[in-house]
Amino acid sequence: MESGQDIRALRDLLAWQVELGATEAIGDAPVNRYALAAGEAAPGSAAARTEAAPPAERTREDDPVAVAKDLAEGARDLAALRAAIAAFEHCDLKRGARNLVFCDGNPAARVMIVGEAPGRDEDREGKPFVGRAGRLLDRMLAEIGLSRAAEAPEHAVYITNVLPWRPPQNRDPKPDEIAMLLPFVKRHVALVDPAVVVLMGNISCQAALGRRGITRLRGHWTEGYGRPALPMFHPAYLLRNPAAKREAWADMLELKARLEEGP
Ligand code: URA
Repeated sequence: MESGQDIRALRDLLAWQVELGATEAIGDAPVNRYALAAGEAAPGSAAARTEAAPPAERTREDDPVAVAKDLAEGARDLAALRAAIAAFEHCDLKRGARNLVFCDGNPAARVMIVGEAPGRDEDREGKPFVGRAGRLLDRMLAEIGLSRAAEAPEHAVYITNVLPWRPPQNRDPKPDEIAMLLPFVKRHVALVDPAVVVLMGNISCQAALGRRGITRLRGHWTEGYGRPALPMFHPAYLLRNPAAKREAWADMLELKARLEEGP
């Protein structure tokens, strides 16, 4: 086939997929099929898994969690931590994402919010909680006098996520992804050193507490990342279940009361 015809055929195939309702690529990492030798299986495909040779002996360099710990512990400030995450090559989510989503808000804040993972809007903008859920979060914070734009630490918030890269189609993070990214989150909290941490939703609780079950956990102070932590419903959940806003409001008041108590 000539290359012009080739491109037209590919375009028609793509148009056909869009007509069928496809809106996004679903692999965790893009595959360059032109680069695959004839007959070679795509990475991650069932064929590739059956063909794979037995693994060679593993070193520390091959262990994503160990590599993440070394990189995270070596980061002396937030800029270095951001660079360390950007240099971390063991997580396939990085290859499917447009941007690294590191943080927003004021690092001097007394409150640090740890969300789950960037969605489509956050991936586009490279900032956490900028979509619909983020706008609801901003309104909830404003009700108790907090804002990510505030300069005064007592009115400020600092926001990050367990995952710095968007999972394909917003799927839940896999346990191995959480495990390899957790050293970065721990270091992030240690560097910001907030008075309290808010754990937004189940994935955030899973990462910090090793437990899910947000309906039972929410509203009860616990310890996460070595400091007082308050699990709360995720604002995306509140958008789907407006009746739960009542509990979320109670949790916001709980947070406000704790901050008023002082350090
Ligand atoms: N949900 C999250 O948990 N984090 C974001 O940044 C956006 C949506």
